Amino acid sequence: MIEIKRFPDGDHLAHAAARRFLEVAIVAIESRGRCSVALSGGTTPRALYELLGSGDYSDRVDWSQVHFFWGDERCVPPDDSESIYRMAKEALLDHIQVPADQVHRMKGELDPQRAAREYDALLRDFFSLKGNPTDQQTFDLIYLGMGDDGHTASLFPHTEALQEHDRWVTANYVPKLEDWRLTLTTPTINQAAEVVFLVGGAKKAETLRSVLEGPQAPMELPAQLIVPTLGRLSWFIDKEAAAELRPA
Ligand code: 6PG
Repeated sequence: MIEIKRFPDGDHLAHAAARRFLEVAIVAIESRGRCSVALSGGTTPRALYELLGSGDYSDRVDWSQVHFFWGDERCVPPDDSESIYRMAKEALLDHIQVPADQVHRMKGELDPQRAAREYDALLRDFFSLKGNPTDQQTFDLIYLGMGDDGHTASLFPHTEALQEHDRWVTANYVPKLEDWRLTLTTPTINQAAEVVFLVGGAKKAETLRSVLEGPQAPMELPAQLIVPTLGRLSWFIDKEAAAELRPA
């Protein structure tokens, strides 16, 4: 089930994304005693993370039962300005009481292949996964962004990671960045109980229309690869990003 939710601006979008986190976390903790959420990088989710770390939301979650993961990471140390972990730490993790051993960052400081292997093993252990990504559910919630080139996580157009279906995590060389990235693979993302894209701003409008309303071209537009097997897919988009979509 794909749900497209339009919001007047980034602030309304961030509040809606924060409310969704609360809903998912409360149900997951009540039913399974823990909540596993994977965070994305970029600028869009920062407002969400700051909200979750603020008084409006932070005291409404039992953070002692929440496990944080990442959908992707740059191959840099955790204190680097480019680190996705660092952004989430500054915006959210430093403001809540989450046990340190429940913050499972991708180790961008390591050799990319080693970091991917270690995170793959971590996910297999945490979710008690056997074999390849099949119908084994992973995260309770994954937040994703979308680049104006149609990438999501670090699944960039025409890169090898798009073809990876055996591993849960992979190191992906991105020619346009001339750098390596760490990323969850498509099957891992599609095994989540819920995936929420957060897309805002006018520069995303044309790509968003192509992804949601254009022909299937997932090698060009990797965001089209995200179709949860059993889970829920929601697109939270602001008015500017929705400008070229068909009227709601
Ligand atoms: C990253 C993200 C990436 C991001 C998109 C959108 O490594 O930057 O994981 O996939 O979500 O590039 O970024 P913005 O929110 O900054 O537009």
